[in-house]
Amino acid sequence: MGKKVTVVGAGFYGSTTAQRLAEYDVFDTVVLTDILDGKPAGLALDINQSRPIEGFETKVIGATTGPNGEGYEAIEGSDVVVVTAGLPRKPGMSRMDLLEVNAKIVRQVAENIAKYAPNAVVIVVSNPVDEMTALAQLATQFPKNRVFGQAGVLDTARFTNSIAETLAVPVKSVKALTLGSHGDTMVPVPSRCTVDGKPLSDLLPAEKIEELVVRTRNGGAEVVALLKTGSAYYAPSAAAARMAKAVIEDSGVVLPVCAWVEGEYGISGVYLGVEAQVGREGIKKVVEDKLTDTEIAGLKEAAEAVRAKQADVANL
Ligand code: APR
Repeated sequence: MGKKVTVVGAGFYGSTTAQRLAEYDVFDTVVLTDILDGKPAGLALDINQSRPIEGFETKVIGATTGPNGEGYEAIEGSDVVVVTAGLPRKPGMSRMDLLEVNAKIVRQVAENIAKYAPNAVVIVVSNPVDEMTALAQLATQFPKNRVFGQAGVLDTARFTNSIAETLAVPVKSVKALTLGSHGDTMVPVPSRCTVDGKPLSDLLPAEKIEELVVRTRNGGAEVVALLKTGSAYYAPSAAAARMAKAVIEDSGVVLPVCAWVEGEYGISGVYLGVEAQVGREGIKKVVEDKLTDTEIAGLKEAAEAVRAKQADVANL
């Protein structure tokens, strides 16, 4: 049947994710869906027409879906489904302001994924992502390792980019990490940041590192404020597409993702940004590493902040 990935939501985030996935040329088919009539089909045709120029064979199929699951046959047999459906922020909004409206959308999408692609690994990116991931797991009833969210790959990329710009070094010299929530309780982890192997704390004063940490935490809002309409999608789609690639290649690569934790760092029963090995079954294993006491305290604070909200989504 071939390798198949579906991207639900053909807005900015979804269409760029579909494009990146097609250009990787590791799937046979990318299905792009939306509730808008014609839009996913038009974007699919447009991406397919770039194949001779970019030199990839993956075929993109666009499908319009209806409120009662019409059109969802197109996702049948998907190995991976990336959920981008939902509203983006406007300037001044927090991700949490999207909770109710996006919960309705993500629940409906997740129920249809369970029905039409019961073996898929689900990657959630709709915001607020920590809550939408928990909701997608509830609504699909998939094993928790098969549902996870995108946050840390993006936040880490933002942190890395800022460090590289500040020190005027290539991005590839920088290793950085962010954990916690994709929001106010994000936990950038300076103790795990190095530049050409040297600890970041040897290269920048503590106040400057704190400034970069704050900028990382507000990374999404900074883009939203500049765009005026809509939110970021180039770096977010790069993150989501990489995660889907890690799944289909069963690479086992360790990525910071929003995963279900059970005892790691003394935290249990919550979806939280942690490092995990990603592969064919979704999350192979949450990886615990040495963090400072302050960083662990930050992670626990993030867990408590998202725990209550994640419980609320059961009723949305
Ligand atoms: N099923 C499929 N698609 C849907 C549904 C649904 N039930 N409801 C809405 N959509 C579609 C919209 O029609 C729109 O095309 O989701 C798309 C969202 O696209 P944009 O408005 O361009 O938003 P985008 O920037 O892609 O962000 C999507 O990702 O980063 C998050 O906060 C962001 O939650 C937002 C999501």
